[in-house]
Amino acid sequence: MVEREGRLEGKVAIVTGAGSSGPGVGNGKAAAVLFAREGARVLLVDAVAQRAGETLEMIEGEGGEASVFQADVIDATECRTMVEACLERYGRVDILDNNVGISRRGTVVDVSEEDWDYVMAVNVKSIVLCSKYAIPKMMESGDGGCIINISSIAGLRAHSSTPYTASKAAVIGLTMSMAADHGPDGIRVNCIAPGLVYSPMVAPRMDDELRRVRRNATPLRTEGNAWDIGYAALYLASDEARWVNGVTLPVDAGLTALSPVTYQTMAQQQYRRMG
Ligand SMILES: NC(=O)c1ccc[n+]([C@@H]2O[C@H](COP(=O)([O-])OP(=O)(O)OC[C@H]3O[C@@H](n4cnc5c(N)ncnc54)[C@H](O)[C@@H]3O)[C@@H](O)[C@H]2O)c1
Repeated sequence: MVEREGRLEGKVAIVTGAGSSGPGVGNGKAAAVLFAREGARVLLVDAVAQRAGETLEMIEGEGGEASVFQADVIDATECRTMVEACLERYGRVDILDNNVGISRRGTVVDVSEEDWDYVMAVNVKSIVLCSKYAIPKMMESGDGGCIINISSIAGLRAHSSTPYTASKAAVIGLTMSMAADHGPDGIRVNCIAPGLVYSPMVAPRMDDELRRVRRNATPLRTEGNAWDIGYAALYLASDEARWVNGVTLPVDAGLTALSPVTYQTMAQQQYRRMG
């Protein structure tokens, strides 16, 4: 049994992309485990039920409470059903962690229209749809709520992929707009911009040398992982962040604090190696 402080005691959270795309712990899985560890009951949403099932196993192994809901969050009906399922199972929804995200490579010249639309749907429209159905339930409860949108430092600086960068920048704009719209309802909306974390999403494209380059590019000279992102989500979800609204928090060991020249050199080195 894991020690709990109960920072989210009595709360109910939805985490989208709560599984991990490979072995290990990704951002969604880490956030879900930490939310449950702090007393939240968690709806683990993933297009691949088995992936969310692995997160459930971790949570139940620690004595936490969660359940799996299979949904493709680019589908409005599935998002609506997801929120209804959360209400049926747990009676409320307090926290929505819009974590789902994917990448496709390309410039505006070579990206296919299909890939562009898909990245924008998964990374941006899913946030709109999940929030569209969750926010009215948060309002009805009279207790407000908290939404966390997962962007990327790729939304703050040009990166390897134009559709990914554009979609993650849109998440930052969407966060500010949602924070302004729903703050008066007691709903805080914030954003995390993860840096170059080593996670199942990127692991297949990494070797030791590339991990060293990425690590040494940051002022802290350390490698981040999904728990670093999960702990940021936990803070934003907790009442400790009750006066934090509309922010984008880079969690990147200080990488985006560097001058653009330093950053660009590092990015070029990295993506030359990734091919
Ligand atoms: N890992 C990194 O290096 C990194 C860096 C910056 C930002 N991010 C962002 O973090 C977020 C995800 O991180 P992760 O580590 O949890 O990723 P992950 O790939 O390990 O897990 C994402 C999960 O989302 C699910 N998913 C994908 N599309 C879906 C859909 N349409 N409906 C429902 N589920 C779907 C997948 O099945 C997968 O289990 C993304 O928004 C990503 O852009 C990651």
